[in-house]
Amino acid sequence: MELSVLSHDLHALPLGTQLAGAALVLFLSMLALRLFSNACPGKAPPVEEGIPFVGGLIKFSKGPLPLMTELYAKHGEAFTVPLLHKKMTFLIGPHVAPHFYNATDDKMSQSEVYDFNVPTFGRGVVYDVDQRVRSEQFRWVANALQTTKLRSYVPAFKLEAEEYFSKWEDEGVVDFMAVFSELIILTASRTLLGREIRESMFREVADLYHDLDDGMRPISVIFPYLPTAFHRKRDAACAALHAIFKKVITSRRASAAKEDDILQVLIDSRYRNVYGGRATTDNEIAGLLIALLFAGQHTSSVTSSWTGYRMLANPQWWKAAQEEQRHVMAAHGDALDMDVLNGMNTLHLNIQEALRMNPPLIMVMRLAKEAFPVTTSTGKTFVVPKGHIVAASPTFAHRLPHIFKEPDEYQPDRYLPPREEDKPVKLSYVGFGGGRHACMGQNFAYLQIKTLWSVMLRNFDFELLDPVPEPDYTSMVIGPKACRVRYRRKKLVA
Ligand code: HEM
Repeated sequence: MELSVLSHDLHALPLGTQLAGAALVLFLSMLALRLFSNACPGKAPPVEEGIPFVGGLIKFSKGPLPLMTELYAKHGEAFTVPLLHKKMTFLIGPHVAPHFYNATDDKMSQSEVYDFNVPTFGRGVVYDVDQRVRSEQFRWVANALQTTKLRSYVPAFKLEAEEYFSKWEDEGVVDFMAVFSELIILTASRTLLGREIRESMFREVADLYHDLDDGMRPISVIFPYLPTAFHRKRDAACAALHAIFKKVITSRRASAAKEDDILQVLIDSRYRNVYGGRATTDNEIAGLLIALLFAGQHTSSVTSSWTGYRMLANPQWWKAAQEEQRHVMAAHGDALDMDVLNGMNTLHLNIQEALRMNPPLIMVMRLAKEAFPVTTSTGKTFVVPKGHIVAASPTFAHRLPHIFKEPDEYQPDRYLPPREEDKPVKLSYVGFGGGRHACMGQNFAYLQIKTLWSVMLRNFDFELLDPVPEPDYTSMVIGPKACRVRYRRKKLVA
């Protein structure tokens, strides 16, 4: 049939039928468009349009938490916020989380959203390399953090803690964040960067680390290369740290002796499937050491601090932790090794609950390389479009009352039978992330924090002089605001 004949026939139809036909054609073409533009068809999450172009940005600039609170109440577990030319989809809670955490990197990619770290870590490592190289580099990190290695790090944690607290007066006032920031870098220096740096270059390295850290600000996430004074200091610190690590690596390579630290594991590592199977370069080792320092420093000091504040504000849990130390000391004396630490369940539950209430990472992110479906707890299915930045929030997910009962209450026994609130739905507890990119340092962090708190519980009494502090949402890694704590030296008797 010729087109002109078809057109003539259509005009002969009544107007109502013509309009219905036009609507049908429009509907079908929209459907086709959706089908072709989206590999996985379906309804996209609701979009909070706001003021065109800048609406989401204005809301976001007041902080991701108020934004999530408002939009979760309005839209539920999945919603999209346009941020300038980008779209960010928030997935709130465990029901919509599996793809986010479990998908392979070719589907949910980290490098595009985390590449602001490149000038801090240096070139050639982590988010500056493609996924095949990164997975080999992470294999070395996993080796360095495996159980047998962790066992050898515990004496270093204990040594650093005892030495640090031996310098305290009999009584005084401290801020836990300041205390733990120092302790964590001391313990990390010894176990991660090695004896040489801890013993002869610690102050210099700690100062350079400070400059690097200060060079990572919220603005750096969007413009990591903006020519500012703090970015210039960051770049100088990165170069200076690389030079220091290079010297240590050269002398280690020249010596036959092997040390028990993460630096040694990295020196002895080789690629398997890329770069012709060559050994690690000095630059790669330095970059990975910096990346690991960054992964563990604030996260562990923040979590150690909240553990203290929460236990002190809930005296039954402080007493339970002390009681546990008494039992452990009665059985093992002063010894603190990995098996002894692993037996401290009460302290473990306290750390876990402190981390639930205040995870240091408010948001973790990926770039959706493909569209994917999510189904909410009430059975609604949405398709997150390809190209969206996708964010999950441990902070928000940990306060959902349908997952954690009375979520604003500190209740470390919620993980014990019969409650086990973290168990029914996978990925309910994501303080250390989950799935494919779950934290590699989780066991290291627990051992480190438990060692520090064991030494503190055994040697001091503490008293909160201020109320439990509010979280400081202005920093990159969210920690507690200032809070004064009085300490008194007092030996715990077994
Ligand atoms: C209490 C302390 C810590 C907390 C709360 C924490 C939290 C996290 C979280 C939430 C992630 C997932 C990020 C994402 O999904 O995008 C992560 C990843 C990671 N963490 Fe930790 N972390 C801690 C300590 C450490 C330490 C001490 C190390 C190393 C010594 C470490 C090394 C890593 C590494 C290498 C990854 C990346 C894993 C991957 O992408 O496959 N973390 N951490």
